[in-house]
Amino acid sequence: MTPDLPAELKAALARKAEGLSRNDAAQRADAISRTYRDGGGSDRIRTGGDALAYALARMPGTYAAIAASLNALTEVTPEFTPRSLLDVGAGPGTATWAASEAFASLDTFTLLDANTALRDLATELAQSHPRLAAMRYHAGHARKVVAEASEADLVIASYVINELGENERAALADAMWAKTSDTLLVVEPGTPAGYARIIDLRARLIARGAHVIAPCPHEAACPLTRPDWCHFTQRLQRSRAHKHLKGAELPYEDEKFSYVVLSRTAPVQRPARVLAQPHITKIAVTAKICAADGIKTESVPHRDKAAYKRAKKRDWGDAVFPQNGLGVE
Ligand SMILES: C[S@@+](CC[C@H](N)C(=O)[O-])C[C@H]1O[C@@H](n2cnc3c(N)ncnc32)[C@H](O)[C@@H]1O
Repeated sequence: MTPDLPAELKAALARKAEGLSRNDAAQRADAISRTYRDGGGSDRIRTGGDALAYALARMPGTYAAIAASLNALTEVTPEFTPRSLLDVGAGPGTATWAASEAFASLDTFTLLDANTALRDLATELAQSHPRLAAMRYHAGHARKVVAEASEADLVIASYVINELGENERAALADAMWAKTSDTLLVVEPGTPAGYARIIDLRARLIARGAHVIAPCPHEAACPLTRPDWCHFTQRLQRSRAHKHLKGAELPYEDEKFSYVVLSRTAPVQRPARVLAQPHITKIAVTAKICAADGIKTESVPHRDKAAYKRAKKRDWGDAVFPQNGLGVE
């Protein structure tokens, strides 16, 4: 799937934004993002106007990160055809939209969130989607609403666990895993702190029997050492309105994210993963790879013409299956 918001969602957001003062939306988006940076989470999102400003500013980025994580999931377990989704801390419904694009098999969508302004916006946006219009959205604190929810084949928590304290985060990880009948995806900002939260949750749930689907090629402790951290990046083009809203100059944005996909069943094979943008020179393509036996640097020399050409197409975050080298299709 592509990292771009689906056409129906873009259109629904554009309709909601008609008549909206761009300066007002930019001020709201800025205040919300400052509250996030100061550790206040989604507290600043109180009204319909706030929720819309948040969605216009952040949905393109969080959607792109979720889409990339779902692509990694479907690449490793192409046979996964979930029927039900539980979107925890769903906000405007970003992960629900992304999952419905990734899996035509989904027919039951349950969204949970404490924020009623975001719930109202999500419900309105979903009216323009044939399958999402019937979704159920429960408002309440995650610990309570997750405990009350039915099990789902796919559970997603995107950009949520950073809003919780340590004990609450651990309890929510257990509660989400208890409701996961097949696969759990957790996405966080691609910062050292976001990675640390992902790594803690990964270790905690492996100890409870979870199997890693992506991005790791193994279930051992992460071999990266500080100041390095596992994260990925997704480039997305910015519209003029999006640039204005974020006070940005560049026509694109690089969304950095960390993620983990865990499953009740071990995958048939786990690919290695490209951990940074490969370095391309006229002599070779060189990439940092996380492999089953540790972090390594792989080089494909220019003299190996066909392999070099293929290696040049590799991106940060790509899977490298065991039978293939960096330069093999
Ligand atoms: C940054 S937003 C992310 C929204 C959405 N998942 C996305 O990726 O766009 C975080 C969401 O988590 C929700 N949230 C945070 N703590 C929560 C809690 N304890 N219980 C329920 N929802 C919570 C907030 O209300 C907010 O909607």
